[in-house]
Order: sequence, then structure tokens, then C-alpha cells
Amino acid sequence: MRFDEIYAEPAEKVYGRYASHVNHRFAKVVRLIGFNKVFTGGQGAWIWDQAGNRYLDFLSGYSVFNIGRNHPRIKAALSEWLARDGASLVQMDCSPLAALLGERLAALAPGRLDTCFFTNSGSETAEVALKMARKATGRARILYARSGYHGLTYGALSVTDHESWRRGFEPLLPETAAIPFDDLDALEHDLSARDVAAFITEPVQGEAGVIIPSDDYLPEASRLCRKYGSLLIIDEIQTGFGRTGRWFACDHWDLEPDIMLVSKALSGGYIPIGAVITRRDIFDKVFEDMAHSVVHNSTFGENAMAMVAGLATIDLMEDEKIVEKAARAGSELLQRLREAACGFEMVKEVRGRGLMIGIEFGAPRSLPLRAGWDLVHRAAGGLFGQMIAIPLMRDHGILTQVAGHNLDVHKLAPPLIIGEEEMEHFLTAYRKVLADLHKVPGPLWDLAKTLLKNSISF
Ligand SMILES: Cc1ncc(COP(=O)(O)O)c(C=O)c1O
Repeated sequence: MRFDEIYAEPAEKVYGRYASHVNHRFAKVVRLIGFNKVFTGGQGAWIWDQAGNRYLDFLSGYSVFNIGRNHPRIKAALSEWLARDGASLVQMDCSPLAALLGERLAALAPGRLDTCFFTNSGSETAEVALKMARKATGRARILYARSGYHGLTYGALSVTDHESWRRGFEPLLPETAAIPFDDLDALEHDLSARDVAAFITEPVQGEAGVIIPSDDYLPEASRLCRKYGSLLIIDEIQTGFGRTGRWFACDHWDLEPDIMLVSKALSGGYIPIGAVITRRDIFDKVFEDMAHSVVHNSTFGENAMAMVAGLATIDLMEDEKIVEKAARAGSELLQRLREAACGFEMVKEVRGRGLMIGIEFGAPRSLPLRAGWDLVHRAAGGLFGQMIAIPLMRDHGILTQVAGHNLDVHKLAPPLIIGEEEMEHFLTAYRKVLADLHKVPGPLWDLAKTLLKNSISF
């Protein structure tokens, strides 16, 4: 491949070609918020562009690069596999690599979850789980949590609760209903009809702005599901593999779901991967006899590259104690962020578990700031969050994201391997952005006006 040539093309040409043949709407958004670079390389928590400018990646490809980018050990394992000219996807065999990865995931997963079905994405794991729940229980209804996110394919979208994802795509899967998150009475009310196949939820809601439930919520939800014969599906697609400071967020509550979904960070960011992990008795109700041994299947599910990357990632995470590091770095970053945010009246809350952190902003009391806040919120939902994400990238070279749709929550998901250099770089920049944000008139309110003039709707 002519990689050197491809990556040397001017950004305008690359973005023009992308706009012509891929997604011109997205290309426009990226251009307008000034993120339109061509990134040529990455290592650990850093990426760099054609001009050699370095950027600190506090987005991690949406929580994919928990071990950092281009880890030499995963790269070596994949290169070794490629050099073998091995036999992947024979389909009429039982792959040794899938067998091993299944065994490793079963050992890591809570309690009796010992059986894996491999997929290619987070959404696909949600699809599989919904099918499994219906077939295993013989019931149709699926409950999901308000503000929950499980992906955008039809089944996953049917249990994803946000108007902006759903509008125009209805009708979705029938017999699905949203219930408030962190509300046991609402859950029991719906479960008690005894027609619910499963309740699906994230343990910590990511897309919704890092929402952590009360301590008794998930253990009680599990007890209620058992009481009424429904399955509990826990979506660890974002929270899994150390993100919240434990292997899985379930571990914070000693929770044993009936079905657990993982994806994203499992392959170290190299290869699409997903796994549905469940108990043998549930699996047996779905794949009920030899005639149904592939009643659900996915051509690329057990592909060797994904299995190799998954095995190498788990080995690395264990050897380098990445989960423990994430727990330590997470509590330090949370504490230092809270100190940095102290005294800034628009910071409502800094919350998180491990390195899944949300900074929520709220309406200020002082009048000049309040006028700016109101104007920006009236003009475009979601614009306020960009007033933090844009200067962080433009002025400090730090890549982050705004949570969800129209939320005033800024979300941080750095690789779990960040050290003092990355933390200090981030905090210095954040203090400056918070200070600028609290100045009216000031550079960030001018930025908001410019964005509004360009009539961007985020
Ligand atoms: C909790 C959760 N579930 C499901 C998904 C969907 O995963 P994918 O985009 O790989 O389909 C995501 C993606 O962000 C997620 O965060």
C-alpha cells in the first residue's frame, strides 16, 4: 500500500474525497468544529497529525483503546499470526483460539457465566442477547433503562432510549418498554406481570453522561429479575476491561447477571470484536439441540485476528496490572479534577468510576454568565459542551467528547495507561478552559457566537 502517499495528501483533499464518497454531513461537522486533521500515527495515549503536532487522546476511540494505541505486544501477536498463514474461519471446525478466548472470558466474568458467543460489534452483542432472552424464557417483553444506550442496529436501537437516535426509524422491535434508571419500584412494577424476558441496562450509563446508580440498585434489580423469572442483561461494552477500575463494572457490586455483553476494548483496538457471555443453562435453551447448534451465527464472529487480539489484550492487562492502574489513576484524576473545578460556578458535578468520568455543567447564578448560558442553550442544544471540547482540542491538543445529545456533560475516557505527564497536561489545560469559560465577555463566548453564526446544529 502507498501509505506514505495516502497520509501525505493535504487534509482538504482527504476531507473532500471523504465528503464525496463517505459521509459529507459528518465531514462538514468535523470541519466546522476545527477537528479536520489527518492523523498519521499513535502510541499509548497520544496521536499525531501530518505536521507532527501531538494530541492527547482522552476519547480512546469511544473506550476502545484502554491499553493505549498500537501496543507492541498486541501488534506482535497479530504479526505472528499473519506470518503463520493460519486457517481462520474454516467454519466446520472448533477454533482453538475461540476456545481459549472463551475460557479466558469465562474465568474473568462474574459467577457462573461460562459460555461465550462471539460477535463483531457492540450492537451485534445486544442483538444476540435480546434473541437469547426471548428464546430462553419463552417471553416477549424487554425492559430497558431510560437514557440507556445499546447500539443502533434495529434490536439494539429498540432498547436505546433517545429520541434523536430513533426518530424516523420506527416502528422498532415490538414489546419493548423503557423504565426509569435507578428506580426499583418501576422495575418491580413491570416485572411483576411475569411476561418480561429480560431487563437490559448498562451498569454505569455512558452515553447519558456517566450516570452511576445507587449502591443497591443493580443487586436488587438482579434479585427482582430472578424473583419474576426474567433475565438481567448487563451491557459492559463501554464499562468493561478495566474502564471503571474493575475488570467489569459488575464487580463493584458483586453482581452476577444472566447475560453480560462485552466488546470495544477486548481486542486492544485492533480488530472489531464482541462477546455475549452467559450461563450454560441459558445457552442450552437457545441452542437447544444439535439441529439448532448454529441457530444464531455470525460469519466473522470467531475470526482468528479478533481472537488473537483478545487473548493478547487479556494477557497484557493481567501482566501489566492495567485494571489496578486504572483504579488508581481514576481516583487521582477525579480528585484533582474536583480541586481544579472548585470555585467555577458552572461546574455542577465531577463524577466517575475509574477512568470513566463526566463533568456536568449547570446554569450559573451571576447575571452576565447566565445571559450567555441562556442564549447558548436557546440557540442549540449541545453547543455548550462544544465550548469546552473545541478549545481543548484547538488550543491544547486534547481530544475529548460531549456526552449524549444536548447534554451539558463533558466526558473523559482516557486510555487506562495514563501517567503523571498526561494527567498534568490535561489538568493544566482544563483549568485554563474553565477559567476562559467563566469570563464574559471572553474568548469562549466569542467562539459560541461564531459557531452560531455558522448556524451549526450539534
Ligand atoms: C454501552 C454501549 N452499548 C453498545 C454500544 C454499541 O456498540 P457498537 O458501536 O460497537 O455497535 C456502545 C457504543 O458506544 C455502548 O457504549
